[in-house]
Amino acid sequence: MDIFCREVKPLAALTIQEIQFWLSIMKEHATLIYWGLPCDQTDLKQAAQQFENVFDDLGKRSCAVQGGEDFSSLVAMSTVAVKNIFAFKRQILQLMVECKICGCSLYPLFFDHVSREALYFLKLLLKIAECDTRYSVDAITNENIFWLRCVADHLNFVRDLLDPSARQLFEQLRSLSDKYDQMGLQARDLGSMLWHFRPTNDLIRFEREVTETTVRLAKYNAAVESWIKECGVVSLVSPMLACHVQRETKHFLSTLELIRETLMKCDETGLCCYDYDT
Ligand SMILES: [Fe+2]
Ligand SMILES: [Fe+2]
Repeated sequence: MDIFCREVKPLAALTIQEIQFWLSIMKEHATLIYWGLPCDQTDLKQAAQQFENVFDDLGKRSCAVQGGEDFSSLVAMSTVAVKNIFAFKRQILQLMVECKICGCSLYPLFFDHVSREALYFLKLLLKIAECDTRYSVDAITNENIFWLRCVADHLNFVRDLLDPSARQLFEQLRSLSDKYDQMGLQARDLGSMLWHFRPTNDLIRFEREVTETTVRLAKYNAAVESWIKECGVVSLVSPMLACHVQRETKHFLSTLELIRETLMKCDETGLCCYDYDT
């Protein structure tokens, strides 16, 4: 199920580290939006700048959180800010799909992508008032659906900002995004087949394949990031976008590790018998 479905919630626990990660991601989205909007969109650019300040401030506040009331108040303030930036991203998306903004250097799908990430963060923050999901298999498959689509989007965004002369890199990124599209479709199949059921050996094998592919992708991204920083490849990709994409890929890897631990726990209870590490 997609992140827009009401029942979909992140598998991760609401920790200060998770909040800090997503606050910094929201701040970077605001910066990227500010850079990407055309000069005549002064109101939207100003709003993007304000979001950058809001998330920067929340990030600083998060460093002083000691727990208890501090934590709850950070969650409450972050929830308001994330609801607002989600609405802002959807507002720009809706203007763009009706061609009411010209000269923007970001795709409409980029705004959809960053709004999905905001919604994921919002659902994580709302976990403060909710108990854990009853069916861990649903949370696992939903994490895969969310992240595999994000990664495929990243590969497409970076590929489509390359100079047309970077033909080999273009083809490599296309083949990688095809791979992630295929794994995303498989995650959807597994999500519906195992809905409200339990993990199976097929799911465990799939998670291992996703993890191995994403470990290789993180290495590849690191190389692309350094080429972009050192001007080893000509493109319209900013070093900040390359770094942002790599940070999210690494966060996906930490989610895959959490999935591995969750599946190993279910293995101990005898619900599945496949050795994850073999
Ligand atoms: Fe992002
Ligand atoms: Fe992303």
